[in-house]
Amino acid sequence: MSTPTFTQDELKTLVGQAALQYVVPGEVVGVGTGSTVNKFIDALASMKDQIKGAVSSSVASTERLQALGIPVFDATEVQSLSVYIDGADEIDHQGHMVKGGGAALTREKIVAALSKKFVCIADESKLVDTLGAFPLPVEVIPMSSAQIIRQFAAMSGAGKVRMKDGQPLVTDNGQHIVDVTGLKITDPVAFEATVSQWPGVVTVGVFAYQKAQVCLLGTSAGVKTLEF
Ligand code: 5RP
Repeated sequence: MSTPTFTQDELKTLVGQAALQYVVPGEVVGVGTGSTVNKFIDALASMKDQIKGAVSSSVASTERLQALGIPVFDATEVQSLSVYIDGADEIDHQGHMVKGGGAALTREKIVAALSKKFVCIADESKLVDTLGAFPLPVEVIPMSSAQIIRQFAAMSGAGKVRMKDGQPLVTDNGQHIVDVTGLKITDPVAFEATVSQWPGVVTVGVFAYQKAQVCLLGTSAGVKTLEF
């Protein structure tokens, strides 16, 4: 029997659809950001009449949800969420993640913190033994960026302000992103705790405190469920 092969886009569609099983009817669902989550949002439209709505982690996801007729609530309107569905740039075998490739990490961490369960949806290229190969996004107050880049240099990381159209990219929160290469994050909990305390850091893209409890991983053999 031959093994089915899927494109990366098909894998994203598969995991986006598979995530529907975690959505609780009658409730508000937490929704992340990115190309994989877009597939989930498209799938969610098929059960929009069974849910109250969504809390979204970015302007982009809010617009997509609303275009499909899914009501979007502000995070301040809910006390907690049963589940948050989001992608990742990297996920390790304990459910720790690097996120923020789409610059939405701060709102993603806020919605994840409101949620009882984080379900990560990703294709198998995202599964790593050690976090750090993907450039680590850090959202910063603009005046702190040079100092934060120096602090990463002291731990052998090379930081750069993310640019868009020749200007620093401005996040949904009006801040900048520093992307850091060259890191090997062997202790994600300690790393997140340390960097989060640096003055000017709004959010570090390591999700160790808000780690995933489940990962729906798109593989050449179909969707594999990892539980942490
Ligand atoms: C956005 C994120 C995304 O979840 C992450 O970048 C993965 O995106 P994609 O599904 O497009 O690969 O953290 O800030």
